[in-house]
Amino acid sequence: AEGTVVAIDGPSGSGKSSTARGVASARGLWYLDTGAMYRAMTWWMQHHRIDVDDAAAVAEAAGRPDITMGTDPADPTVRVDGRDVAREIRTREVTAQVSAVSAVPAVRNRLVAEQREVIARGRRRAGGIVVEGRDITTVVAPDAAVKIYLTASAAARADRRSGELGGDVGAVQADLVRRDRIDSSREDSPLTQTADALELETTGLGLDDVVAIVLELVDRAG
Ligand code: C5P
Repeated sequence: AEGTVVAIDGPSGSGKSSTARGVASARGLWYLDTGAMYRAMTWWMQHHRIDVDDAAAVAEAAGRPDITMGTDPADPTVRVDGRDVAREIRTREVTAQVSAVSAVPAVRNRLVAEQREVIARGRRRAGGIVVEGRDITTVVAPDAAVKIYLTASAAARADRRSGELGGDVGAVQADLVRRDRIDSSREDSPLTQTADALELETTGLGLDDVVAIVLELVDRAG
C-alpha cells in the first residue's frame, strides 16, 4: 500500500496541531508540524543575529541550520543543529517574526523539499502521515488523499491561543490577524483555500468532534 497522506491547512489557532496530532495518534500515523520548521528557521536566524527583514540575508543563510523534526504525534521534537528548541520556537519573539522569514522563497524551497522527504518516508514506514501548515494542500502535497482547510472565527482562535499560551485575548487576536494577513498575501505559496479541500469550520466544536470528523474522512480514503 502507498500510505495515506492527510493534509491540513488553515490560519493560526484554527486547531490544526491538536487535530492533526489526535488523528495521527488514533491511526498510528506519523505527524509533521511544518509551522514548527519555519519557527525553527526563524529561531536560528535570531540566534545568529540575522536581520529577518533583510530578505537577501535570510535567503543567503537559509541553507545553514540543520533542522530535524520528530514525527511521533505524542512527542513531536524539533532540533536545530542538535539542540532541542521545542520551547524556544513558541516564544513571542519567534512568533512576531516567523511570517517575515517564511515569506522568503529560498526558505520555502528548502523546507518544502525536506517536508516532501519526510512525507515519502512516512508513507512507506508508517503507512501514512498527517501534515499541517499553510500550503500543504496547495503546494507540499496537493495529491494528498485527504485535504482539509480548518477555520474558526478570529475570536474563537484567539480564545484558544490565549488559553494555551496565556496573554491578553485582544493582543493575541491582533497578532493572529496580522500574521494571517501576511501569510495570505505573500507572493510565494500564500495561505489559500482551494475548492478540492474540505472546509471544516470549528467554531463551537470540541477537539474530539473535529478529530472524529477527520478520522471518518481518513478511514473512507484509506
Ligand atoms: O502553524 P504555526 O502558527 O506554528 O506557523 C507559524 C508560521 O509559519 C505561520 O504564521 C506562517 O508564516 C509559517 N508557515 C508557512 N507555511 C507552512 C506552515 C507555517 O508559511 N506550511
